[in-house]
Amino acid sequence: MTTIAVTGSTGQVGRSVAHQLSDLAPRLIVRDPSRAPRIEGSEVRTTTYADAAASRAALEGVDVLLMVSASEARDRRDQHRTFIAAAAAAGVRHIVYTSFAGAGPDAVFTLGRDHADAEAAIRESGMDYTILRDNFYSDLLPYFADEEGVLRGPAGSGRVAAVARADVADVAAAVLRNPTAHLGSTYELTGPEALTFDEIADRAGRAIGRKLRFEHETLEEAYASRASYGAEPWQMDAWVSTYVAVAEGEVARVTDDVQRVAGHPPRTIEEGLAPTG
Ligand SMILES: NC(=O)c1ccc[n+]([C@@H]2O[C@H](COP(=O)([O-])OP(=O)(O)OC[C@H]3O[C@@H](n4cnc5c(N)ncnc54)[C@H](OP(=O)(O)O)[C@@H]3O)[C@@H](O)[C@H]2O)c1
Repeated sequence: MTTIAVTGSTGQVGRSVAHQLSDLAPRLIVRDPSRAPRIEGSEVRTTTYADAAASRAALEGVDVLLMVSASEARDRRDQHRTFIAAAAAAGVRHIVYTSFAGAGPDAVFTLGRDHADAEAAIRESGMDYTILRDNFYSDLLPYFADEEGVLRGPAGSGRVAAVARADVADVAAAVLRNPTAHLGSTYELTGPEALTFDEIADRAGRAIGRKLRFEHETLEEAYASRASYGAEPWQMDAWVSTYVAVAEGEVARVTDDVQRVAGHPPRTIEEGLAPTG
């Protein structure tokens, strides 16, 4: 029997995947077992990506692994590489990884460069793989607004084909259910349309019952308006480059990969924000 493991099940995407696969009792690889979903027959193993020995032990006997990318951190590349190497050493045959649309060493969105590094580590590992290159999450975008309901950044009238996290989870679950059909594939997961930030503010604002608006900033203004958060430079670059990537068209392409893999159309921004997701 194939043993499937899922990381990130204490978070949004991984939790949905774990529940969707409950009939297969996936192994849940978590940092905090007290927050792991309760799924009959599912084993819970504890590790963090940066812990090579614990990760290898947690992954022994796993055939197919969903690796949800780690939370943003300065050393995220090392964390990912450690966990990917542990998976290969533990004998995982097939790894499914949540990457980013436009991942590449020169990606405008700076975190897209981290994802390119993880993808490279996966390709070099010798494991079979499926890469899910997620666009920005549509159900998170309205929460970038400040207390006054203003989304601000150097996005101009650029467009973003943002995807609902629920669709990312549906695709990941479909891949894990039938992994051999997706060996070596890279999917670019997007919503059904590419929206400007003006459109996002309007439509997402209505969906969550909050008046939102978008204000374009220059690069200089973007760094200045975020300075009071006291974030490290890599974090500031990630925040600001989110908008620059939109301005430059890096995340504007709409694909039919959600439909092809999950078997249903991608959710609109309103559907992604609906309470049932
Ligand atoms: N495309 C986008 O717009 C976008 C936006 C935000 C994030 N992301 C990426 O997409 C991923 C999934 O999104 P989500 O909404 O499901 O995130 P989430 O709700 O924050 O969940 C992240 C999950 O990953 C686990 N995790 C994080 N860092 C880890 C590490 N170093 N070692 C082991 N487990 C770790 C977390 O465990 P804990 O519960 O213990 O923290 C949690 O279960 C995020 O982790 C992030 O990499 C993409």
